[in-house]
Amino acid sequence: MRVPFTTAVVVSLLLWGMAPLLGLPAPAEIAAAEAEKAPAEKPPSEAKSYAYPTPELKKMYETNVGLEKGDGPFGDAYKPIPMHMYLNPSRHYIRPDISMFADLMKKFGPEQCVECHENVTPGIVNAWKSSTHAQPKKNEYFAGKTADIEKRLGREVTEVMCADCHGKSHDVLQMPTVDNACGQCHPQQGEELASEREHGRPNHVQSWEANVIVPWYIENYRRGEGASQIGCDVCHVEMSRCDGCHTRHIFSAAEGRRPEACASCHMGPDHPDWESYEHSKMGIIYHLEGHDWPFDKPLAEVIPGKDYHSPTCQYCHMYKGGGKWIISPVTKGIWRMGTVPPKEVDFTSSLKDYPYGINLPPINKKLEVRSPESIQKRETWLELCGRCHSVRFARLWLENLDEYMFLGWKKQDEAQKIMDQVVAEGLLDPSPEERACYPMGDVLADALGPDKLGMGVYKAFK
Ligand code: HEC
Ligand code: HEC
Ligand code: HEC
Ligand code: HEC
Ligand code: HEC
Ligand code: HEC
Ligand code: HEC
Ligand code: HEC
Repeated sequence: MRVPFTTAVVVSLLLWGMAPLLGLPAPAEIAAAEAEKAPAEKPPSEAKSYAYPTPELKKMYETNVGLEKGDGPFGDAYKPIPMHMYLNPSRHYIRPDISMFADLMKKFGPEQCVECHENVTPGIVNAWKSSTHAQPKKNEYFAGKTADIEKRLGREVTEVMCADCHGKSHDVLQMPTVDNACGQCHPQQGEELASEREHGRPNHVQSWEANVIVPWYIENYRRGEGASQIGCDVCHVEMSRCDGCHTRHIFSAAEGRRPEACASCHMGPDHPDWESYEHSKMGIIYHLEGHDWPFDKPLAEVIPGKDYHSPTCQYCHMYKGGGKWIISPVTKGIWRMGTVPPKEVDFTSSLKDYPYGINLPPINKKLEVRSPESIQKRETWLELCGRCHSVRFARLWLENLDEYMFLGWKKQDEAQKIMDQVVAEGLLDPSPEERACYPMGDVLADALGPDKLGMGVYKAFK
């Protein structure tokens, strides 16, 4: 059986997603010198991790290794670029040397973060001063929430200081993540982020895993073009960081509720979510009227039609059902980027053979748009649409969009059939045998072998 190239790409995307779960190449021991640089006070292997719940995942993605070793099951195949210090700080952060700022160090003690930083980074200090973190009891609403946090921490919180997030001095400086900072005071949001694993990729908590397991990501490095990895990294950083939707150092929930909070990543040709929203009737209403909407209100308290005349990304995607909203946007995803062939289409090309003998649950099956689970998700969507529309109106729209997707797959099936024929008649030029190795194909094929990959996919990678 021939496996078409486009399908090989899709399959490899998915496969690489499974790799960490297979416990592939064991990560090397972490050098003692690097361990010393580890930011967390407790070694990460002992501290609770929202981002990586198992020791195996923590070792591959979270344990600090400085810039010595890459991430994921193929971490030995590349070295991190220096920018990874900030992009994936729990694993790659290295503290700066500030000894050349001798004047400042004479003037301020190591714990005078704010005073010294008023000279070093005034923008950050001023943003922090105007944030709720600098006045956590500024009104009744926040005072109540702060009281809960105080109870949990067993101490008074009059200000959330630089040191609360970054560490007590430059000697133990860290870049804040859900595990080493935010989640300790905001465990609910930590749990909500972590809960995305239950729904599978794509999701935020596995952003980095998806990023580094794609063959061409590491191939960039092997071709001496490691710097280009940031072309992926900038968006795939929501695995442990909490500053994607609440920008630093304001950290405002109201900002996180605005659709622009999603736009820096959910845009561009692969996933034009912002462009689609912006040009839809609902997005246009947001542009026309959104400046007056009460973004301070928790999503669960928003009165549809009055507070928000049309929905935001958050209002739609963070709705969990039963009148509840959580910061995880993925609970209702059905189509998953539309990259997996759906069961509901009768394929006539080689697409009918998906998953090509691949023996790696759960990617050993087609997408099920009409499974009981998907139907349940759709009902939750309709519950949400029904806050403004008639459910019949919304149902017809969503079902029509499903049909539209099925039609798209049928077109792909037709195109694939032509490709199958071209390959079968040996007309492909250059032929598969003459082509360069698929990115990382050498490593991938050997690591997984034909049993797990299925013979067709195994050969396609080789
Ligand atoms: C004596 C002055 C001084 C004090 C006190 C000080 N810092 Fe800094 N800090 C600096 C300087 C200077 C830099 C910039 C280093 C550079 O640009 O290379 C810096 C950089 C940083 C950075 C950015 C590090 C990076 O990798 O980019 C953070 C975060 C930070 N400081 C937090 C703190 C915290 C938290 C405290 C208090 C515990 C603190 N600082 C106390 C002078 C100080
Ligand atoms: C609520 C937690 C929190 C507090 C409080 C906080 N920071 Fe940060 N800070 C962050 C996060 C998150 C980042 C981004 C980390 C990354 O890049 O991985 C960051 C990054 C930085 C950076 C480096 C990035 C840049 O833009 O230059 C500096 C410098 C910094 N903080 C200084 C400070 C100073 C000074 C204070 C106190 C006035 C402070 N921070 C208080 C969360 C915090
Ligand atoms: C030492 C405890 C502590 C840490 C660490 C901490 N926070 Fe907070 N945060 C608070 C308190 C207290 C409040 C005010 C009460 C509330 O809203 O929960 C708050 C409020 C907030 C708010 C709402 C503020 C508003 O104006 O809408 C956001 C968003 C937030 N924090 C995000 C973060 C993020 C992101 C991090 C990590 C980079 C972080 N916090 C780290 C204690 C903390
Ligand atoms: C820093 C970048 C970033 C920001 C900000 C961001 N996302 Fe994402 N989001 C991603 C990435 C990257 C993925 C896919 C991760 C993966 O490959 O597993 C994703 C996945 C998703 C998914 C799952 C898609 C699916 O096919 O099921 C949804 C839904 C989503 N995001 C919604 C949002 C919403 C709504 C916001 C704003 C409130 C937002 N995101 C903000 C980067 C971001
Ligand atoms: C502009 C932001 C952005 C950039 C740049 C970006 N991605 Fe993504 N990526 C996303 C978002 C958002 C999704 C989820 C889209 C959806 O589900 O509709 C995603 C989905 C994915 C997925 C599929 C989902 C999964 O978990 O299997 C993979 C794999 C992936 N990205 C890897 C990469 C790689 C590798 C690069 C660089 C070559 C890259 N991305 C560049 C934002 C980005
Ligand atoms: C995808 C965007 C997104 C990400 C990522 C995100 N948040 Fe939020 N956050 C929001 C939205 C939207 C709300 C408002 C939720 C609501 O109103 O129900 C919110 C609310 C909050 C609040 C509540 C403030 C209040 O007054 O009730 C805190 C605290 C907070 N986030 C902290 C975090 C922490 C900690 C993380 C990292 C684990 C995080 N956020 C990651 C979008 C995000
Ligand atoms: C009216 C409600 C609504 C609004 C507003 C909305 N979406 Fe969606 N979005 C949906 C529905 C419904 C789906 C399809 C879910 C499914 O069946 O898989 C979807 C799908 C997605 C997906 C997954 C796409 C895929 O390829 O599978 C992402 C990512 C996403 N939306 C992000 C956003 C972002 C970012 C915004 C704001 C700029 C936004 N959405 C605004 C309802 C909404
Ligand atoms: C907060 C209220 C609100 C929610 C929730 C909402 N919509 Fe809308 N939607 C609107 C408004 C208002 C319009 C513009 C109507 C007009 O053109 O006069 C609109 C327009 C539309 C349109 C454009 C077609 C038309 O007749 O103009 C579609 C399609 C649509 N919505 C589908 C949905 C779906 C599907 C959901 C749920 C996933 C949803 N909407 C959730 C308020 C909402």
